[in-house]
Amino acid sequence: MSSSEADALVTTLDDLVEEALATFDDVASLSGLNEAAAAVLGKRSSLGAVKQQLGALAPDERKVVGRAANEARTRIQARFDERQATMQEAERRAQLEAERLDLTEHTSSRRLGHLHLVTQTWQALEDVFVGMGFTVAEGPEIETDWYNFEALNFPEGHTARDMFDTLYVDVGQPESTLLRTHTSPVQVRVMERSEPPIYTISPGRVFRRDTADATHMPVFHQIEGLVVDEGITFGDLAGTMEAFTKAYFGGDFTSRLRPSYFPFTEPSAEFDIRLPDGTWLELGGSGMVHPNVLANCHIDPERFSGFAFGFGIDRLALVRHDVDDLRELYRNDVRFLRQF
Ligand code: FA5
Repeated sequence: MSSSEADALVTTLDDLVEEALATFDDVASLSGLNEAAAAVLGKRSSLGAVKQQLGALAPDERKVVGRAANEARTRIQARFDERQATMQEAERRAQLEAERLDLTEHTSSRRLGHLHLVTQTWQALEDVFVGMGFTVAEGPEIETDWYNFEALNFPEGHTARDMFDTLYVDVGQPESTLLRTHTSPVQVRVMERSEPPIYTISPGRVFRRDTADATHMPVFHQIEGLVVDEGITFGDLAGTMEAFTKAYFGGDFTSRLRPSYFPFTEPSAEFDIRLPDGTWLELGGSGMVHPNVLANCHIDPERFSGFAFGFGIDRLALVRHDVDDLRELYRNDVRFLRQF
């Protein structure tokens, strides 16, 4: 074989290398890369064909072409190794991504709700009074005439019953069973079953035939307070109301008691709070428990005295959160409720 043939083989080898490197760069998968490598480096490959021609060369030329063939194989193999490593890494990453399970990942698909503003207010009030040493009592929402009126010193036919537009329930004698108009019947139930000293609050739902407007709802909530002990005075009532006002609304609020009338308290007072802007707002009624009520509950009025108060939870929520219409609380518009 002539030296020009040897030169031609070396040139072929160079071309083979270029072609192989280009092919390796082009393939898009590991299996494609392996196929390409078999075609270039395998027994029946073009590189194999060059090697088969080595035997026909003169020893010197065989050496030159043999070295060139080895170099060609080394270069092709090196590029194969490099591409293989890169592609294996990419495949591993793709697999990890596909099988990823991130337990800390944040998804926004499920939104948690929260308690209604009135429930939040109810609970905050309980917290304040429990902190002041009161216990919590509850009573039924459907009451008898005795607990809602009679025991509270509203005799049958007494004009004070007109204070409440009562919703009666069609059970028993006419007008003997009703939806309680206030939480004061719980006072009677607590006094009936416990001995003084009594320091209790009773939050709950109440009902009146009131037309809904900015400050009235036919179904609303009150919180009642009752204290019965030896030597309780009107000063204790005023001090308790003031302590509550500061604890619940903050240090820049104060309170006052204004003369009023309720059949079950004597003397009676409206309980107002003074807002930081100087305006006064009525929160509820209060007074010293009437001796007739103590006697109705088998508590000796000569030995014990007490005070009671009751105010509207819904109206309190309005003041606290600067809402100007009670009806907003019950429209169930989540865009409104979500704010609180
Ligand atoms: C009473 O219900 C008395 N039981 C309060 C009381 C308790 C006095 C203990 C003395 C001793 P009154 O009817 O004023 O009182 O109601 C008390 C509060 O309930 C009102 O000040 C107001 O805040 C709230 N309230 C009354 N009617 C409604 C209504 N329709 N909607 C929302 N809140 C109301």
